[in-house]
Amino acid sequence: MSIVSRRLLTGLVAGTGLALSVGAGIASAQTPQQAIQFRKGSMQVQSWHMRTLVQMLKGQRPFDAAVYLRAANALEAMAVTTAEGFIPGSETGETRTLPEAFKDAAGFRAAVERFQGEAKKAVAAARSGDEKAMRAQVPELIKSCDGCHERFRSK
Ligand code: HEC
Repeated sequence: MSIVSRRLLTGLVAGTGLALSVGAGIASAQTPQQAIQFRKGSMQVQSWHMRTLVQMLKGQRPFDAAVYLRAANALEAMAVTTAEGFIPGSETGETRTLPEAFKDAAGFRAAVERFQGEAKKAVAAARSGDEKAMRAQVPELIKSCDGCHERFRSK
């Protein structure tokens, strides 16, 4: 291992601290600051892929099943990992997450699971090659984003 990469690794390990906290049932040793950055970044990535799907739905770009599948796959993966960013201690700071997301852990988890379920259905639709099903799933995905934002995100 080079000196540079060893230094980088040492820096990363030191930055994580030793505390093991549990947020939304997921263990994390990352700091609240890192968690906030991660969840915002994840949301931005989700937004990118949703825009691709919405643009196809609206005819703003050609409908392409392969592109749809790629976006759906990415969303399915994001739906699994984004929730890791909501750890205890990350209620305050540069965040729009409402305290409710931490108080009502079951409600928040349900919103996460809804998103996971809709993303899975989008992947299944893409794999089936049924364009009608693919199109119909886009509004369902949007509802799973909005449903969570309405309850757990400030304006
Ligand atoms: C389980 C709840 C939940 C789901 C599902 C969810 N979001 Fe979010 N989203 C949030 C919360 C909470 C925030 C506020 C994050 C913060 O500031 O800490 C947020 C923030 C955002 C932001 C702003 C990010 C930033 O840079 O500040 C965007 C964009 C976004 N979400 C897009 C989406 C899209 C698109 C989807 C669906 C594909 C989605 N979200 C699904 C809860 C959710």
